[in-house]
Amino acid sequence: MADYLPANLRVIGDWVAARPGCFDWGPYVQATLELEGVAPVDAAAVEAREREVRAKLRGFFHGDLTADPPVPGASPASYDVVMSNYCLEAIPEADRFEERVANVVALLRPGGRLVVQFTRDMASYPVGAVDFPVLQVTEDDFLRLLPRHGFDVASIEYEVVGAEPGLDRSYASFVMLGATKA
Ligand SMILES: C[S@@+](CC[C@H](N)C(=O)[O-])C[C@H]1O[C@@H](n2cnc3c(N)ncnc32)[C@H](O)[C@@H]1O
Repeated sequence: MADYLPANLRVIGDWVAARPGCFDWGPYVQATLELEGVAPVDAAAVEAREREVRAKLRGFFHGDLTADPPVPGASPASYDVVMSNYCLEAIPEADRFEERVANVVALLRPGGRLVVQFTRDMASYPVGAVDFPVLQVTEDDFLRLLPRHGFDVASIEYEVVGAEPGLDRSYASFVMLGATKA
C-alpha cells in the first residue's frame, strides 16, 4: 500500500503491528462485514477480518500520483488489482489530471482491475474546520479518459452514491468505479 504522506503510512503501520494506542478500525471492519451480509458480526468475526487484512498489508511505500511509476520500483503492467480511493482528485489542479490517471493505470497487467473512488463534482470538502480543495471530476471524465489508456468502455462499471439524508450535506456525492484493462 502507498500514500503520499509518511504520517498516513505510519498510522496504518502502527495498526498492522497492533502497536499500543493505534487507531481502532474495528467499527469500520464491523460495518464492512455487515454490508457484506456476514452473520453474526460479533467480536470474533471482526478480529478474524482484522487479522486477515493485517496479513495482507505487507509493504508500505511512498506514493506520488504525479510520478511514473507512482510507487518507486513498481513494475509497469504487473498488478492484478490497483485501488485508489479519494486520491486522484486530491490534487485540485486540473492540469495533468490525465497524466495522473495514466500513471496509476499503467501499473495494471492486461486483464487487471482498476478500482477507484472519488468525490463527485465537488470543489472542496470540510474536515473539521479545514476545507480541503479537490478537483471537480465526475464519472464522465473517467469514461472519456480510460479508453485512451487501454480500457474497453464496456468494462467500466460505476455507481454514484449520494450523501444520505441526515448525513453531512457538504458531501454532494461519491463515485465508486471499476474497470478492466484490455
Ligand atoms: C482523502 S485522502 C484519501 C485517503 C485514503 N485513500 C482513504 O480512502 O481514506 C487523500 C489522500 O491523497 C493523498 N495525496 C495527496 N497528494 C498525493 C499525490 N501527489 N500522490 C498520491 N497521493 C496523494 C494524501 O496523502 C491523502 O492520503
